[in-house]
Amino acid sequence: MLILGIDTSCDDTSCGVVRAGRVVLSNIVSSQFDIHARYGGVVPEIASRKHVEMIIPVVTEALEKAGADLGDLGGVAVTRGPGLLGSLLVGVSFAKSLAYGLGLPFAAANHLEAHIFANFVGPEVPAFPVLNLVVSGGHSDLILMRSFGQYEVLGRTRDDAAGEAFDKVAREMGLPYPGGPFLDKMAQKGDGKACPFPHPKMSGNPFDFSFSGLKTRAVQEFESRGRKQDVIPDLCASFQRAVVRELLYHVPRLLEETSSKSFAISGGVASNSLLRSEARRLCEDLGVPLFIPPKDLCTDNGAMVATAGYYMLREGLLSGACTDASSSLPLLPWEDLKGGTRL
Ligand code: KG4
Ligand code: ZN
Repeated sequence: MLILGIDTSCDDTSCGVVRAGRVVLSNIVSSQFDIHARYGGVVPEIASRKHVEMIIPVVTEALEKAGADLGDLGGVAVTRGPGLLGSLLVGVSFAKSLAYGLGLPFAAANHLEAHIFANFVGPEVPAFPVLNLVVSGGHSDLILMRSFGQYEVLGRTRDDAAGEAFDKVAREMGLPYPGGPFLDKMAQKGDGKACPFPHPKMSGNPFDFSFSGLKTRAVQEFESRGRKQDVIPDLCASFQRAVVRELLYHVPRLLEETSSKSFAISGGVASNSLLRSEARRLCEDLGVPLFIPPKDLCTDNGAMVATAGYYMLREGLLSGACTDASSSLPLLPWEDLKGGTRL
């Protein structure tokens, strides 16, 4: 079964066509980086207008690249939230109309679950229970999945998301937008031990994250060294090392306590070279299978939504006509989504 998946949750208009939730036939992303770069961050109003302009060309290109036409589709999936409301509305309205017009089943996924399902693309899928680390520009969450659609959030960020912290530190250092990938490249030229960052102390849930203190310290350190260009590689490497240490800090204990059979990392920050290598090293030591998607499936894309939609439809979860975009959508267990009707 071919599923067409659409994501317009932030500043990328994306559409992918995936066969049987496993084989990516196309995955087209129209990025708005250049447009938002001059503002140093995403401008929601501009993002939604650009989605309106790009949605038809992107969907058309995804179908062409997949060698499919509308008649070949078995379902339509979309990201419903969380994200920028105006941006989400474009994708949801378009996908819902397309499914209705074609008489196809429609699945509306949570953006976090779509990131998680990027690890279900391909021949090998994570064994349950799987501990997920979802790290993006808006989230840093540790989510246990005991089976399809059974989510337990074990930890989350109290302040900035990891990607957000990367982007803000990069911006302070004058690196291009979005900062994460540029900081990653810069860090490869520096010494990660040059500037030690303390482990943030927090009360309450021990598995939560906090990145704003690390971010502030990186900026203060840059200031105290006279904002000199030659300190940037060492500072980037040290900051990145601290963020990666935090992201993996609780993983061994959580894997053990939850008897997880696999560990999966997803979201834009899963592209980070140090996070990928450190996670690989950790999982080899622990003897736990590690799943990280290829980089084009880490950042926002339509193929991960198509895969989430495939599994939702396989479980009989249909999203109906009342499905709407939601900027703050919680991660809902599939048990709560049962009983939906066709459009
Ligand atoms: O998942 P995503 O595409 O969008 C959201 O759902 O937020 O993630 C985007 C985030 C941005 O903050 C971006 O800077 C970060 O992922 N990112 C990276 C890298 N590539 C993308 N952060 C660190 N290192 C990277 N290589
Ligand atoms: Zn995302």
